[in-house]
Amino acid sequence: MKHFVSMKEKSETEILQLVKRANVISQKGVKPLTGQFFAANLFFEPSTRTKMSFVVAQRRLGMEVLDFMSDISSVTKGESIYDTARTFESIGANLIVLRHQQENIANQLAESLSIPVINAGDGTGEHPTQSLLDLVTIYQEFRQFNGLKVVIAGDIKHSRVARSNAIALSTLGCQVYLTGMNDWQDNTLPFPYISMDDAVEIADVLMLLRIQHERHHVHQTFTEAEYLENYGLTIDREARMQAHAVILHPAPVNRGVEIDTRLVECERSRIFKQMKNGVAARMAVIESLLNQGGNYSEENFNKRQ
Ligand code: CP
Repeated sequence: MKHFVSMKEKSETEILQLVKRANVISQKGVKPLTGQFFAANLFFEPSTRTKMSFVVAQRRLGMEVLDFMSDISSVTKGESIYDTARTFESIGANLIVLRHQQENIANQLAESLSIPVINAGDGTGEHPTQSLLDLVTIYQEFRQFNGLKVVIAGDIKHSRVARSNAIALSTLGCQVYLTGMNDWQDNTLPFPYISMDDAVEIADVLMLLRIQHERHHVHQTFTEAEYLENYGLTIDREARMQAHAVILHPAPVNRGVEIDTRLVECERSRIFKQMKNGVAARMAVIESLLNQGGNYSEENFNKRQ
């Protein structure tokens, strides 16, 4: 694996290997990498979880973290993303983590740079490390993916999390369903839309999405309470979920909108577990990109323990 910019190009085997490796790391930890490695975290959009869990992952792996704040960087003097990334490559960064509002930008950088690029979210494009941590969380629950019914619920059209997860879950043999307002449906995704009332009854995994207000061009006329009632996870709907079913949300959560605030930490919620798994998932990706995780055969998974 040279870069980690999309779930599209990943085979079932590649995804499963990363999931299992991240799961091992989450349970047992891992030794620091051998040698000195610098990571450049280039975040041009706000982030709490992704940015900070990359920092924790990098430090746990013994990497030097080159923090970057776009608002006091030479980007404010007009420097391009390409020249910024090339600068980090030139001064010795071994890895670039990029979050940016422009879809496909991580792919473009990956084609131009000789060091690995990780997509930490590109506009409405993809968010593959979020998907990986979601998959780790599902794996810890069910130990396999084949045939699981996963419903992705909410602002599908504007969600990079929805896109990466729909692709990866389908590659892994899950039955993927979508649910949400008509205006926010994305018909480029080849999965059936169902109602939220049906979703809660069939889902093994209910994956809620944040409303992406920052990507909307049309002012919404509904109230938060109306959205929750029509499309969100209410107390009544949660009560109709299967006993074994779990709730995921990439966060940040709009409490009382996508989900009743009383359900954010309910028994079947895995929302904070997802965040915890984010560190291990990102460690597994970095380790693989820096060729420190071996060839990801079963024996190599545990080689560096
Ligand atoms: N889930 C996620 O990407 O959160 P942040 O925007 O806080 O990184």
